[in-house]
Amino acid sequence: MEPPETIIAGELVLRRWQLVWAGEATAAVRESLPELTPWLPWATAEYDADASRAFLETSIEEWAKGTTFNYGIFAPDGALAGGIGLITRMGPDVLEIGYWMRTAYAGRGYMTAAVEALTEVALTLPGIERVAIRHDAANAASAAVAIKAGFAEVERVPSEIGAPGETGTDVIRERRSTA
Ligand SMILES: CC(C)(COP(=O)(O)OP(=O)(O)OC[C@H]1O[C@@H](n2cnc3c(N)ncnc32)[C@H](O)[C@@H]1OP(=O)(O)O)[C@@H](O)C(=O)NCCC(=O)NCCS
Repeated sequence: MEPPETIIAGELVLRRWQLVWAGEATAAVRESLPELTPWLPWATAEYDADASRAFLETSIEEWAKGTTFNYGIFAPDGALAGGIGLITRMGPDVLEIGYWMRTAYAGRGYMTAAVEALTEVALTLPGIERVAIRHDAANAASAAVAIKAGFAEVERVPSEIGAPGETGTDVIRERRSTA
């Protein structure tokens, strides 16, 4: 099971991460820290080029192992606008989607378009019956993206607090294959 390395999402292109984007990824994360830090444990004031390279190296290794498929999101102007990935950790028939958006590109419907396109692809992969999004109960922007992309709430679960905006309750939402 392996998704395509390039996915068209309306005006956006999702591309399997490459190490050459480490510099731009560092800049994108650093300038977005006020929006990312509340919800993402890795998005701290210490985030630097080494952290970015380590993330990209891990992403390349995990893609090869088939455990996580991470993409950079590229805007129509060619800039790196965010990140999105498919994660296999929830079980054999389900893929989880995680995401973050560069602040200068937020609020344009881009993440909704990226999630919709990646979900369509995920549901065509062999054995995949569900796609899930897990977000903190207080993360209203993430909830809005998931709802707009057609994900319905299935469960609320206790969760370890890893980032300062988190409440300790996660909402799990799902979209299922209609086939
Ligand atoms: C969640 C995130 C990816 C959304 O990216 P985006 O490109 O702005 O998403 P979209 O433009 O497609 O949609 C954003 C929606 O969130 C809504 N929104 C944004 N901020 C909000 C807030 N503080 N409260 C409520 N809704 C909010 C927008 O109004 C929009 O919904 P609408 O179209 O119904 O008005 C971005 O905010 C982000 O990177 N957040 C930090 C990281 C994160 O939380 N990742 C997910 C972890 S589960």
